[in-house]
Amino acid sequence: MIPFFRAADVERAVSPHEAYDAVREAFMAYARGEWAMPPKVYVTNYPAGDFRAMPAIGGGYALLKWVTSFPGNPARGLPTVTGLVVLSDADDGRLLAVLDAAAVTALRTAAAGLLAADTLCRPEASSYAVVGCGVNGAESARMLVAHGAMPIVWDVDEDRRRLVAERIGGRAAASAAEALACEVVLTVTPGADLLYDAGSLEPGQHVSLMGADGPGKAEVAIEELLRSHLFCDDWEQASHGGELAGAVAADAVARTDVTELGAVLIGDEDGRRSAGDITLFDSTGLAIQDLAIAKAAYAKASELELETISL
Ligand SMILES: NC(=O)c1ccc[n+]([C@@H]2O[C@H](COP(=O)([O-])OP(=O)(O)OC[C@H]3O[C@@H](n4cnc5c(N)ncnc54)[C@H](O)[C@@H]3O)[C@@H](O)[C@H]2O)c1
Repeated sequence: MIPFFRAADVERAVSPHEAYDAVREAFMAYARGEWAMPPKVYVTNYPAGDFRAMPAIGGGYALLKWVTSFPGNPARGLPTVTGLVVLSDADDGRLLAVLDAAAVTALRTAAAGLLAADTLCRPEASSYAVVGCGVNGAESARMLVAHGAMPIVWDVDEDRRRLVAERIGGRAAASAAEALACEVVLTVTPGADLLYDAGSLEPGQHVSLMGADGPGKAEVAIEELLRSHLFCDDWEQASHGGELAGAVAADAVARTDVTELGAVLIGDEDGRRSAGDITLFDSTGLAIQDLAIAKAAYAKASELELETISL
């Protein structure tokens, strides 16, 4: 019998702290070459949205996530991100578990956004914001609070920002500008509109750019990328379908301009160079992050009463 983790089961199985630690380990294992991951494959149906097939292998497990991004869905009462994660035994190929992809995605996305911020922000940074209070922004806010950082939250939708502020026991920003000026910002918007125009980032700021995870999306003007210290989750993915992709296509940003987060975590590369550095982390979302969460959830399977599937 194969356990099936619904969204609530994933949340019960993996706390924000466990998610953070698991995702950190995954970034490091990938940087050391212990975990492997071909770049995700996009199957597009624009402008409606796209499907992504995301495989990974590591730690004795193999995984495939089949997941969507349909930005117009909330207006239709449907989620932007939906799909399934399939976890298998890497040694004999047995199917071990099936998990709700949206819940896995939200946990690992929030964990990566905070992990990058912790790694790259100024040590004395004390003001935090989450911009975009949808599924993944709300989880990012929960992740920050679980780690002792209370963010102000902003969303163009007043109800959403109020709801997330209430949920975390914090407050909504008075304006987009107030949130975007915080020392540490996690942006989790659809990437349809720029949040940071040319000249708008402040020296010393860190921004984890989580929203622009596919072709044609951006949260920051190219001019801002060019005056910032750039980091990404995975160059192969980020150069093709993330925040950096536009600048790479315009030959304005090259491989040598961008450092992968995992390389910083294992000490192979430097992170922030000075207090005045603007650090930007381009997250496209990695299958190894999903593997980290699925593996952590599966380890708890026997403690939870889960539905099962038989083939
Ligand atoms: N990097 C990753 O690993 C990763 C993972 C999951 C999702 N994403 C991406 O993150 C984005 C958000 O995903 P989601 O599932 O949370 O979507 P969602 O639709 O649930 O939420 C998006 C939110 O952003 C708000 N928003 C839109 N434009 C805004 C603006 N200019 N300023 C402030 N708020 C704004 C919307 O009102 C909405 O509340 C999508 O582009 C998705 O593809 C990235």
